[in-house]
Amino acid sequence: MSVGIQTISEDDFQAFQHLIYTETGIALNDSKRCLLSSRLAKRLRALRLNDYIEYYDYILQRDPSGTEMQEMINCITTNKTDFLREPHHFDFLTSNIFPAVARKAATGGPRKLRIWCAASSNGHEPYSLAMTVREFSAFDASWDVKLLASDIDTNVLAHAEQGVFDAEDLAPVGDLRTRRYFDRGTGSFAGKVRAKRTLRDLLTFRQINLIEDSWQINAKFDVIFCRNVMIYFDLPTQRKVVEHLTRYLKPGGHLMLGHSESIQWTPNPLRSLGHTMFQLPE
Ligand SMILES: C[S@@+](CC[C@H](N)C(=O)[O-])C[C@H]1O[C@@H](n2cnc3c(N)ncnc32)[C@H](O)[C@@H]1O
Repeated sequence: MSVGIQTISEDDFQAFQHLIYTETGIALNDSKRCLLSSRLAKRLRALRLNDYIEYYDYILQRDPSGTEMQEMINCITTNKTDFLREPHHFDFLTSNIFPAVARKAATGGPRKLRIWCAASSNGHEPYSLAMTVREFSAFDASWDVKLLASDIDTNVLAHAEQGVFDAEDLAPVGDLRTRRYFDRGTGSFAGKVRAKRTLRDLLTFRQINLIEDSWQINAKFDVIFCRNVMIYFDLPTQRKVVEHLTRYLKPGGHLMLGHSESIQWTPNPLRSLGHTMFQLPE
């Protein structure tokens, strides 16, 4: 038997609240009951389950592979994103960070740039970063440039890896850069664009859960974008994630957060540059 959309009971909501917090760090407050109900309802329908607690038991007891846990996580994440969102961060890359990295290389440093986009959603943000790199002429073919894009949500990661977007999403990019970096789809892909190889070649996609204790990353980064994800975490989780991210910055490296996010409440070695940009001292 399948269910229509019904609101989850208080007790069942609390069970999911705890499970989601433990697995993802996402802290759902009580006002999110309806939202959670509607997001999980499609999984109940797909599995022909009658109520939410049955779904909860299914995830914990009848899903040894963890497939349904991942489906549940994919349902509850909020993936809103845009090309060149909060454009001042991309401007700052071009005006300050990239020139500083290039200057270091000119005085004997490695011709190497590493960027991590740590909650990359459907890909608009990492492809915006890739475009910004390609537009910076000092990073010529002799440079070793890599961008890591990661998210907890496997659906958005798969979408991002394809590099296919609705053409209308590219409005913030402008016509010139759209033509330079994207191919227009035809036939069944009409109305779509696909990022060209020059962008895709820079990017590696990986599932990384920011609240895990180990990320299995062997690099340090010049820049980490971790934007508009901390807002879903409570303060202890934010503190843990910021401390962890800081360990992955090169000396002088930059951390960019979303416009409503902050790290002021926690002792950390980062220097605020304004506009939610932070730098690890050299
Ligand atoms: C609102 S989107 C932000 C996308 C992009 N950074 C931007 O600012 O446009 C938040 C993203 O964080 C991801 N997310 C949520 N919890 C996460 C976690 N524990 N680890 C990694 N990513 C997470 C979600 O899947 C979602 O794609």
